Amino acid sequence: MEVCLNGNFVEKNDAKISISDHGFLYGDGVYETLRTVNGRPWLIDEHLKRFRQSIDTVGIEFMWTNDEVVNLVIALLARCEPGEYRIRLTANNTPNFLIEAVPLVLPDKKNYANGVSAITFDGERPFPLVKSISMLTSMIAKKEILRAKVFEAFLVDRNKNITEGSISNIFAIKDGIIYTPKERILEGTVRNLMIELLKNEFEMRVTSIAQKDIYDFDEVFLTSSIKGIVPVVKIDGKKIGDGKVGEITKRAMKILKENLINYGE
Ligand SMILES: Cc1ncc(COP(=O)(O)O)c(C=O)c1O
Repeated sequence: MEVCLNGNFVEKNDAKISISDHGFLYGDGVYETLRTVNGRPWLIDEHLKRFRQSIDTVGIEFMWTNDEVVNLVIALLARCEPGEYRIRLTANNTPNFLIEAVPLVLPDKKNYANGVSAITFDGERPFPLVKSISMLTSMIAKKEILRAKVFEAFLVDRNKNITEGSISNIFAIKDGIIYTPKERILEGTVRNLMIELLKNEFEMRVTSIAQKDIYDFDEVFLTSSIKGIVPVVKIDGKKIGDGKVGEITKRAMKILKENLINYGE
């Protein structure tokens, strides 16, 4: 399998970076993860917009235009077997720019059908609007995820508000109204898409959600580029609503599915 390193296509095992690599030494790199739908990169303009925002905030030297990046991604996919891929773009201040495509692995179907469990975790991501390769908060949260045998950890900030998942965004529903946190989050591409799609049908409030209130919602779901929408039916061992996937969550999943199927056609 090949990767694209600084515009050159090389076998993954032959792709090398220096021990002086800035990202390796200082962690000042940024990345994006997206997926293909029908073999084409999905929401790539939105990902590139956020990539630029991360690059500009960190001050990374990046010489590629968006069109060039899209062309490199398409050229890399053309070198892969047909199928769906997870694509990762990584840029740092060396500067190095890596594009990888690995076969897409989705969560087990039963996670979508029955919902998953989550825990809360006291932690903030510094500079949350930056999708940074310095992922200590998410990695330490992952340790707790593995220990608790749950699907995701919901980060709780200094004000005791739920902000986002360690690698996802959060939506919560009460009395037919959909809420999603506003502050100290990465503005997820699927979050933004779902806000737009769902507000045609439901009242949508982009606002803070206190940790103590999360257990009282009727439904909760998380979103990410790779996982789409995953229902959350238990948080910290407490059932959300009746502990089953709720109707509005099902409707949101259906809307996203329709959107994915229609993509590019
Ligand atoms: C911290 C964090 N929040 C939210 C998201 C979801 O963003 P997106 O919908 O663009 O995948 C991610 C995705 O990796 C993430 O790492």
